[in-house]
Amino acid sequence: MEEKKKNKSENFFYIENFGCQMNLSDSEIVASILLKCGYQLSQKVENANLILFNSCSIRKKAEISLKKKIDELEYLRKKNGIFFGIIGCISKSNRELLDKKIDFFLNPNAYKKIPYIIRSLNQGELIKKNNILSQKETYEDILPFRFLNQEKIKTFLSITRGCNNMCTFCIVPFTRGREISRSPNSILHECHLLYKEGYKEITLLGQNVDSYKWIEPNSNHKKKIIDFSNLLRIIAENLPFMRIRFSTSNPHDMSEQVLKVIAQNKNICKHIHLPVQSGSNKILKLMNRKYTREEYLFLIEKIKSIIPECSISHDIMTGFCNENEKDHLDTIDLMNQVKYNYGYMFSYSPRPGTYAYRNLKNNVPDHIKKRRLEEIISLQRKHSLFRMKEYLGKLQEVLIERISKKSDQYWYGKNSQNLGVVFPKKNFKVGDIVHVKIKTVTSATLIGNIV
Ligand code: 5AD
Ligand code: SF4
Repeated sequence: MEEKKKNKSENFFYIENFGCQMNLSDSEIVASILLKCGYQLSQKVENANLILFNSCSIRKKAEISLKKKIDELEYLRKKNGIFFGIIGCISKSNRELLDKKIDFFLNPNAYKKIPYIIRSLNQGELIKKNNILSQKETYEDILPFRFLNQEKIKTFLSITRGCNNMCTFCIVPFTRGREISRSPNSILHECHLLYKEGYKEITLLGQNVDSYKWIEPNSNHKKKIIDFSNLLRIIAENLPFMRIRFSTSNPHDMSEQVLKVIAQNKNICKHIHLPVQSGSNKILKLMNRKYTREEYLFLIEKIKSIIPECSISHDIMTGFCNENEKDHLDTIDLMNQVKYNYGYMFSYSPRPGTYAYRNLKNNVPDHIKKRRLEEIISLQRKHSLFRMKEYLGKLQEVLIERISKKSDQYWYGKNSQNLGVVFPKKNFKVGDIVHVKIKTVTSATLIGNIV
């Protein structure tokens, strides 16, 4: 490898994100580590000598965008002293594909190695293999450098890392490793720091927050277990003026106790993202989702009875292996029963290495996947409008996040249910919590006036 050297005083890094909220949150951990070893953040890729791509492998499309970006920036890597690194979720197949185009890979549990890697690269060493998935790393000793939300209004805080669920379609357990929970003390400490800095809203992150579990060591030889409901209550009670959100919940693990804690604490937002993936029991079983449609619908009933004002969103995947027209209609039927507030919908994308890739046939033709996806997207749009209309004439508590994209005379914010609200500015500012009376709606936005 050609030796690349750089003057230490000119070290700038740039991070481009490709994935989910967890990746965004991880970028802030990596930024914090880099700042400590003398790097500065660059907003412009051209000014950086360390260019990081925080990658996502969840669907083929994400991998294609990553490759496109790396190709687009290839001219920069040819310059002396500029290194490219892929961090985040990278599948084995994509590693092989991109191997020659980058200087190093670093998986999500190995970010503390970054100073060592940079040192080695500067000394001209070839560093490619750093794919050990640590079973212990939670980064609880690193305070993320929160550069993504300049306004310091809302932010993410990860409480668990990895996933043990092994849904048959999903690459995450392979790219992020086994699930591990972070200590409640470190979470609470960071929440207090964020409050002091002026943040108004924290989203607790995990692939499956409901399986959060911390075993308190050495408490009189009796094990004290803190689960997600305990953690939520501790945070909500200690920070009564902070809005608390969380994502993502797994229907299999969500307990009644969590629902009660949400209902009992005003500052916990009344929104649950509850991916269902499919409405067909046959498909849920093939996906290893560990619940039936009946159990899922029962949970929805429970949510509505314990937290009547709760909004519910979903992830649904169409065209999974062996999905036939009846399975698809089961999904449509489930959607009609729940009438979700909103959702994220995808076509199944086979991921090399997963159980489904190895053992099941990707046998739904692309044009059928596409048609089914269009059907559920259009149904969701109808349901979203139906749900938005329920807010007409109602008063909503809204945290102002930014200027509306449609008009600089309007603010944009979110209500407790995580729905976007737009309203004329008056004498308020970003970060204020205001009460807005809803006058009109679209399928995506509530529109009203501050009262
Ligand atoms: N293909 C398509 N969508 C996927 N998801 C996860 N894996 C795949 C895949 N192989 C979707 C699921 C999950 C969301 C984060 O991404 O719906 O809930
Ligand atoms: Fe993937 Fe299932 Fe874990 Fe979600 S719960 S990250 S879909 S394995």
